Amino acid sequence: MRRWIVTALDALGLGPRPTRIRMGPEFVGVVEATLADIPDIVELELPVFREHREYHPGDFQQPMNAPMIADFYRQVMFDDDWGIAVFVADRSTIGYVAWTAYEQFEGRHALIHSIAVNEAGRRRGIARALLAFAETQADARGLASIRANVWAHNEASRAFFASNGFYPVAQLMGRSIRAE
Ligand SMILES: CC(C)(COP(=O)(O)OP(=O)(O)OC[C@H]1O[C@@H](n2cnc3c(N)ncnc32)[C@H](O)[C@@H]1OP(=O)(O)O)[C@@H](O)C(=O)NCCC(=O)NCCS
Repeated sequence: MRRWIVTALDALGLGPRPTRIRMGPEFVGVVEATLADIPDIVELELPVFREHREYHPGDFQQPMNAPMIADFYRQVMFDDDWGIAVFVADRSTIGYVAWTAYEQFEGRHALIHSIAVNEAGRRRGIARALLAFAETQADARGLASIRANVWAHNEASRAFFASNGFYPVAQLMGRSIRAE
């Protein structure tokens, strides 16, 4: 219901405005995302999506564009099962994380939907800070574990999660049936 009201208000241009108070231009850190962050999140996500599509065209057949990604984040931003945070420095958004609660068998976990840092900001601990924020949010919502689906080709992502204590929980194995 809350999500419907927020979406309706947003569509009318009356949605919640950013309530975050940034402490001057020097603010550096992770904050919960607002609707105002969606364009930056889209900019960070589009190249990641394109890269994934290049490696796995069969999994990403629908073309994805900025308005579609923006729409997706507008839908989930006020969903209690979702958490979205951005890393801000000097009023620019350098990275973001989005996670969702999900159920597997009888367990309820946090699943990282997406995490990305712009190229210039990498290897400075920004994704680590975003992950820690997501973990705190997930903990506050009573979830006991945090997981991520990582494409096997994505070495940076695998190394990132491994360096943050993630270990393989299950492995999805596969091969093509038809010659491509
Ligand atoms: C994966 C990604 C989010 C990591 O962001 P980051 O801010 O550079 O990561 P951090 O600086 O917090 O890295 C923490 C640790 O993870 C490991 N790590 C991160 N990137 C790595 C890489 N490219 N190669 C090897 N180890 C890496 C390192 O141990 C690193 O610590 P160190 O720098 O002290 O050695 C970033 O590379 C990215 O945005 N990639 C494109 C998007 C993507 O593929 N996202 C994941 C799938 S949704």
